[in-house]
Amino acid sequence: MQSMVKSAKTEAALLQTPSGFTQDAINALAGSMTALLADFFALYVKTKNFHWHMSGAHFRDYHRLLDDHGSQIFAVTDPLAERLRKLGGTTIRSIGHISRLQRVLDNDAHFVTPLDMIAELREDNTALAGRLRQTHGLCDDHGDIASASLLETWIDEAEARAWFLYEVTRHAEVAGG
Ligand SMILES: [Fe+2]
Repeated sequence: MQSMVKSAKTEAALLQTPSGFTQDAINALAGSMTALLADFFALYVKTKNFHWHMSGAHFRDYHRLLDDHGSQIFAVTDPLAERLRKLGGTTIRSIGHISRLQRVLDNDAHFVTPLDMIAELREDNTALAGRLRQTHGLCDDHGDIASASLLETWIDEAEARAWFLYEVTRHAEVAGG
């Protein structure tokens, strides 16, 4: 048992980065941002799922919008993961690791109506923006200005996605869209 503890410590040391942050700060920031990274991966797959399985009269618009959103979400994953390594933390290792941490819920339904797809993604992006703002507060607490700056861009993008998803269906229920 003692050798296992020792070996875990040795392994952690192999990936340490001299970032200047305390271990407590690194643990807090890495925990919060790794959970966000899991959310970004889960939301990316769900957005592509709905892009691939879109149907109906607005197929072209919705299919293309979700493709744009998927690309924007995926583009966050590498800078977010690498920010954690710069701090001295570690991050996502596998699909299984993502599934254990994600707060964005999967939707494996065989058929989802276009309006339900758009509404679900709007709620997911709004919730994600809220969690990003929470982590921004944590970055402020620990003086992690660079992560806060990156998060500001990603908050704006998540809020923009929620806005677009709201606008494209604003009158849809009335119009039968
Ligand atoms: Fe595509």
